[in-house]
Amino acid sequence: MNELRALEPDFWRAPSAHNTQPWTLTYTDDEVAIGWDPDRALPISDPTGRDLRLSLGAFAECCLIVCADAGLRIAFRPDPGPLRVGFLHEAAEPYQTPFTTADVRARGTNRGEYHPGRLPDEVAGALAGMRRVPCRDLADLLHAADLHQFGDREVTRELRAWLRLTRRHRRYLLDGLSDRALALSRFEALALRASLALFPALRPLGLPRALAGASRGLLDYDGDVLVLAGAAGDEVNAGRVLMRHWLTLSGLGYTTHPLSQIIDCVPTREVLAERLGVDDPMSLLHVARVGRPKAPAAPSARV
Ligand SMILES: Cc1cc2nc3c(=O)[nH]c(=O)nc-3n(C[C@H](O)[C@H](O)[C@H](O)COP(=O)(O)O)c2cc1C
Repeated sequence: MNELRALEPDFWRAPSAHNTQPWTLTYTDDEVAIGWDPDRALPISDPTGRDLRLSLGAFAECCLIVCADAGLRIAFRPDPGPLRVGFLHEAAEPYQTPFTTADVRARGTNRGEYHPGRLPDEVAGALAGMRRVPCRDLADLLHAADLHQFGDREVTRELRAWLRLTRRHRRYLLDGLSDRALALSRFEALALRASLALFPALRPLGLPRALAGASRGLLDYDGDVLVLAGAAGDEVNAGRVLMRHWLTLSGLGYTTHPLSQIIDCVPTREVLAERLGVDDPMSLLHVARVGRPKAPAAPSARV
């Protein structure tokens, strides 16, 4: 299994919430365990581990695609255990996938402006498990979720630990969310840094409202939001599905911008479930706007 080591930089291109890159690989002679580093989990903003398991599923899918492209016969066996989701192991055949390492490298989150326009029906219809909602229908929920998120001191503190808003940050090129990845101008990045540093003092003056206001217009255009629904508890598998959908979209020139706050916040998650006619709000696993970006995004950092 040692030949996988050389492929790791491409495995690492998998997406993860806050770009924490929580995955670990533990090699033995015939298997490689996929696990996670608890210091890279988000216990405050992701208390159930939903995004952690989605990210690890996306990572497993990336590993399989990259191994298949390198001609290696590798499969994934789910086997949840302490700090572990499963194993990569040798198989009779390479993993069957239409995607390549080049696709994995080309995918990226884009938080900039999108051209107006809905996904063609045949594209949306091919994304199993995904529900499609017009952007404008969720603008109120996004604003409410942002207010909730920025009003929570602990969630904001956890987010701040993963922000890299200046190039002088010692981990700027390694992980977390950079000013460039967040599509912030220099002035916006400076203002965000200053306001988060002063958060406790500015809170009574309405800082959460101001921060939430920054995203007010984000869904005010003719576009689509995709909502992934699945069985709560099966997020590793859902993360694999999500990765394949993102690669499908990316190959067609679309990018995604996740808006997890809408399902992190209990009241907005419940309203969204009601609007979609979904019985169990916990089965909503991921929310992202999707479209054709007006400009390419800066590639996100990796360790
Ligand atoms: C499960 C999951 C949840 C995410 N939630 C958010 C989110 O709420 N907001 C956001 O801007 N990005 C979100 N992202 C995107 C990550 O921040 C992004 O994947 C990471 O920074 C790496 O960048 P890349 O996708 O360009 O490779 C999420 C990604 C995953 C896998």
